[in-house]
Amino acid sequence: MQLAYHDNGTGSVVVLLHGFPLDRSLWKAQVAGLQGRYRVIVPDLRGHGDSPSPAGSYPMEAMADDVAGLLEALKIGEPVVLGGLSMGGYVALAFAARYADRLRGLMLINTKASADSPEAAQGRETQAKEVEAAGSADPVVDKMIPKLFAESTRKQRPEVIEVVVEQMRKTSVDGVAGALRGMALRPDRTTDLAGIKVPTLVLTGEEDQLIPIEESRRMMETLPKGELIVIPKAGHLTPLENPEATTTAILKYLDALG
Ligand code: MLT
Repeated sequence: MQLAYHDNGTGSVVVLLHGFPLDRSLWKAQVAGLQGRYRVIVPDLRGHGDSPSPAGSYPMEAMADDVAGLLEALKIGEPVVLGGLSMGGYVALAFAARYADRLRGLMLINTKASADSPEAAQGRETQAKEVEAAGSADPVVDKMIPKLFAESTRKQRPEVIEVVVEQMRKTSVDGVAGALRGMALRPDRTTDLAGIKVPTLVLTGEEDQLIPIEESRRMMETLPKGELIVIPKAGHLTPLENPEATTTAILKYLDALG
């Protein structure tokens, strides 16, 4: 699977994976803030943005293999820092399980290591069927939007929400259904966390309604080298909702890695 991507800047490599059902533009502000010191690679995960959308489910491991394939295609042999938001974080954890020696750092952003409950997995299948019946991403978008943003984003930066809605609605039916079914399949990676040897930044938004802060706290406590940063004025899409604080936190973490 050949992924669409942007590759900006020079220096040690940082790869950032977007959430569901978004695309690489989620990281626009972070790319701008990091590219003076780092080589920042932002792919569109399969089924999203400009990447291909095959039919069928997208296991997180397959998406992690896509990312490994992209690094190979770019002839990047040295270990990288990999960050992922929400579904991108599930993919980053699958990558860490499969390719531990290719990492020098990990950033788990608005994400969690736990699996879906049986009810949540069933709910994703129902949503996938709704999207297929509608012939568009709309049923999922309509359900997600009210839960994605912090109060301050809704009140002070409604234009951010408009951009996200537009982006989500463009995601193909196969892409949305494939990602939903793939997320439902993902294993519980909580026990993996204790074996992650690289320094790991756990970052989340103070008002994330989809993934409560307790999930982030639990991950930080289990990680041997975990650090937790909670960003104010941000819900589930921290990099977009409070881009300055997010970029500053990421830069501080990256610079400390050396
Ligand atoms: C995401 O933002 O990537 C999704 O909300 C993750 C999920 O549905 O578990």
